[in-house]
Amino acid sequence: MAQPRILILGAPGAGKGTQSANIADEFDVEHITTGDALRANKDMDISEMDTEYDTPREYMDQGELVPDDVVNAIVDEALSQADGFVLDGYPRNLEQAEELEDMTDLDVVLYLDVGEDELVHRLTGRRMDPETGDIYHVEYNPPEDPEVEGRLEQRDDDTEETVKERLRVYRENTEPVIEHYEEEGTLERVDGEQSPDEVWEDVKETIEDAA
Ligand code: AP5
Repeated sequence: MAQPRILILGAPGAGKGTQSANIADEFDVEHITTGDALRANKDMDISEMDTEYDTPREYMDQGELVPDDVVNAIVDEALSQADGFVLDGYPRNLEQAEELEDMTDLDVVLYLDVGEDELVHRLTGRRMDPETGDIYHVEYNPPEDPEVEGRLEQRDDDTEETVKERLRVYRENTEPVIEHYEEEGTLERVDGEQSPDEVWEDVKETIEDAA
């Protein structure tokens, strides 16, 4: 496999961002993440796209999906500039999955399988380093450097109330996408409840086996 085209699926907090960073380093591919792209453009004016709200912020802070037209355009542009990639955060509903089929072929479809209680615990304890973008967890993965610890921030949508809504939206919209790839016979399920290093071992092996 030259540069693999990898899709990583999983619920909010399943570890997609954590494992995508490993994949991008190891396999020298672009990490394309709709969540980060939208967070960097939270206040862009999307009113011309005939949307309910004028910016992505209103959707994201409530845990709702940003309208498909906005997200499809971001992914289409990013994919057109990447040979190999790990795509994280997309597709989140069946309409987006259909769009993706028109945009590119995939070599591997990974699914990080994590139960709901663990997801809530991971998300409410997650912290980000605003300077490097590195992801930590107050309990599972705290930073060693006190300077880094002092500047950590919590994501706006990681409050308990918004996390519950994100999980509801995931069950309603994104679980059918997982079922779609499962029925197609392309879904590679990885036990995402292991330690980050153990998950990474399985993820790496799955990608290498697909080569
Ligand atoms: P997005 O940014 O994509 O968030 P998400 O899918 O909810 O996923 P997260 O980033 O929260 O979790 P993750 O799986 O990456 O976990 P992580 O590695 O950080 O989307 C945010 C919002 O943007 C959406 O709600 C929506 O509004 C909008 N949006 C995005 N894409 C869209 C789309 N396609 N269409 C429409 N709207 C869209 O890990 C979580 C925590 O657990 C961390 O603290 C980490 O250190 C820890 N951890 C990771 N792995 C392990 C492990 N194995 N054991 C213990 N702890 C672990």
